[in-house]
Amino acid sequence: MNLFDALVRLSLPLVPRFIVKRVAAPYVAGETLEQAVQVVRALNDEGAMATVDYLGEAVTEPSRVDAAVQEYLRLLDAIARHDLRSNVSLKPTMMGLGLDEGLFSRSVQAVTDRARELGNFVRMDMEDHPTVAATLGLYRELRKEASNVGVVLQSMLRRTLSDAAGLLELRPNVRLVKGIYREPRQVAWQDPHTIRESFVHLLEVLLRGGAYVGIATHDEHLVWAAQAVIHKLGVGRDRYEFQMLLGVEPTLRRVLLSEGHPLRVYVPYGQDWYAYSVRRLRENPSVAWHVLRALLRGERG
Ligand code: FDA
Repeated sequence: MNLFDALVRLSLPLVPRFIVKRVAAPYVAGETLEQAVQVVRALNDEGAMATVDYLGEAVTEPSRVDAAVQEYLRLLDAIARHDLRSNVSLKPTMMGLGLDEGLFSRSVQAVTDRARELGNFVRMDMEDHPTVAATLGLYRELRKEASNVGVVLQSMLRRTLSDAAGLLELRPNVRLVKGIYREPRQVAWQDPHTIRESFVHLLEVLLRGGAYVGIATHDEHLVWAAQAVIHKLGVGRDRYEFQMLLGVEPTLRRVLLSEGHPLRVYVPYGQDWYAYSVRRLRENPSVAWHVLRALLRGERG
């Protein structure tokens, strides 16, 4: 972490919410389902698919888990009603992971059941390392009954190679990412180069093993490396898609679309935009510069 990144991390809690909201606007569709629908429609018109995430994590009250499930059911209905090319992504700790194991499994199942009725698909995002075993455990359970569910593997975690190998018998649908959480050295590679190499190796293992892979990265080197693996293995366009976050690297997104690659954009929405936005800002110092400039100019939103 360089000095500027450290400064950004330390000072973000002091930045007024209206500034965070304005600077983070490109990364979040809005607070309402209707706004998410509009953003997805625009992405579909551009040729991209979407996966919609109702923002929220680390829920501590069962009533909030139930509310999140209801929102996901509404979301799935809206996707069908508007004929959108989109599935949904959800955070395990929003569905009760860490709160109540039974609630977690019932909640995700309720969403995957509705998705199945509608011919749609649900991806469980992956959170920090203490949640990985339970998330993969539920994924295995759900896959006994249905195939319209997918999971995420993080190339920074030391355990992931063995997790990937263990999942292959299911012919899984995996989103491959570097991993967004700051993890201890005991469980995760720290060196960016190693995390990249791990990503490429995992991609090859997954594709060779018959998995469908969502290649989720904005790292142009990795995009190139992924294309090289796809080419080397002769993998068809029905076996992979690229995935990117809303608002991040739109030029690269358009390049990939123009080359004919399947591509999906992660579209978050909801009232819980603040925590998500702060994470985006922490990751991208160039965006944080805008925050700083706005602060210095005393801009109001
Ligand atoms: P890298 O971090 O090198 O980024 C490349 C460039 O893209 C940067 O230079 C920067 O400019 C820009 N950039 C990247 N990420 C940005 C961001 N968030 N905000 C602003 N600019 C950014 N992680 C996880 O642990 N669990 C999960 O379930 C998911 N899900 C997920 C879905 C999708 C569709 C994507 C694209 C990513 C995730 N992630 C995730 C996040 C992932 O683990 C990782 O942290 C980010 O994608 C950043 O890594 P890159 O591979 O993009 O490379």
